[in-house]
Amino acid sequence: MGTMGFIGLRYMGRFGVCPSRFGSLTLGSRGIPRRAVSALVFRAHGDPAEVLRLEELELPALGETEVKVRMLAAPINPADINMVQGSYAILPSLPAVGGNEGVAEVEEVGAKVDRLKRGDWVVPSDLGSGTWRTVAVCAETSLQRIPNRLPLAMAATLSVNPCTALRMLHDFIPLNPGDFLIQNGANSGVGQSVIQIAASMGVKTINIVRKRPELEALIAQLKALGADHVFTEEDLRKPALNDVFKDAEPRLALNCVGGKATVDMLRHLVNGGTMVTYGGMSRKPVTVPTSALIFRNLNIRGFWVTQWKKDNAHDPSRFDAMLEELAALCRTGRLVSPALSEYPLKDYREALDNAMQPYSSRKQLLVM
Ligand SMILES: NC(=O)c1ccc[n+]([C@@H]2O[C@H](COP(=O)([O-])OP(=O)(O)OC[C@H]3O[C@@H](n4cnc5c(N)ncnc54)[C@H](OP(=O)(O)O)[C@@H]3O)[C@@H](O)[C@H]2O)c1
Repeated sequence: MGTMGFIGLRYMGRFGVCPSRFGSLTLGSRGIPRRAVSALVFRAHGDPAEVLRLEELELPALGETEVKVRMLAAPINPADINMVQGSYAILPSLPAVGGNEGVAEVEEVGAKVDRLKRGDWVVPSDLGSGTWRTVAVCAETSLQRIPNRLPLAMAATLSVNPCTALRMLHDFIPLNPGDFLIQNGANSGVGQSVIQIAASMGVKTINIVRKRPELEALIAQLKALGADHVFTEEDLRKPALNDVFKDAEPRLALNCVGGKATVDMLRHLVNGGTMVTYGGMSRKPVTVPTSALIFRNLNIRGFWVTQWKKDNAHDPSRFDAMLEELAALCRTGRLVSPALSEYPLKDYREALDNAMQPYSSRKQLLVM
């Protein structure tokens, strides 16, 4: 099995990531279960194949300000794996249900719920929601409505990777049509969103991927999404590539990988340019040459979409506007979900195993 990257510093305290009962468990049975919920539960951190179990849980009664939702589909993202392994920046109290992203349909609302109604499609607004389950009862405030005319796979994967891509393209430097950016891990879910959203802005992308047996197919796949250039990490070190960068000096670099891959990318960034690190898939520290800071005045930044959501939680219309902007791109065919393999919840072991393989360029989606 491969390993997954992680972001940020390890935080080992008991972190209250489950403000609602979406992410917490009602285990055991005081009284007769109202309705059984199937969920992928972990009671200890470790290898996901070992510690995750499909369990039947009791569904708590619906409170006045709560909503009962039926999960439709939930992806397996690197952060989900890291959370189960215990290596993510924030960790839930155990036992916990796995999964942080997904789309659900509202089935029932409490008497004081006014923002959501039966039939709405919703996504969790924070981490630790425990989306790998069939049904949940959760606070209205822990959910964000999304347009329900989106394809299911897109809806299930809209609230993390495309949001991350959009924010990194909007919030760091002003990008104009014709500008270039460079990114590594370009075939990741985030990378594929970056390619498409950048293309919709007229921004050109230089995309770095790892060498693999079916490289030509991957290059064709990324170009079909709108990638302008696709190179391997090894290509990036070849002097021949300097010609490409003569007319295409990137002003923004997006770093999914860390380690040495960062140095290679920084070499091509324009003086005064900005690199945003959002992932650490190589599990190596980000390497920045001293000269890049002293003589080239590069800006080295980081981004975490979870923090953006927390910082903007006081005004849900900002999250709404972001989802609407992305949904508009989906409706016009300018943003599609990454290639996906779908699994029923009971086949979670196979899905997890595939999610941890290198060179797949596919998301694994649990469909409930
Ligand atoms: N900061 C944020 O707000 C935020 C939000 C979303 C995601 N992320 C992070 O972004 C990263 C990508 O997430 P995702 O959902 O887009 O992932 P994904 O779709 O599962 O793709 C994983 C990517 O990582 C690459 N990779 C795996 N191991 C690698 C290694 N050892 N060296 C170099 N590349 C490697 C894969 O390339 P191959 O095809 O070559 O294996 C693939 O491009 C993760 O670290 C995730 O935690 C951060």
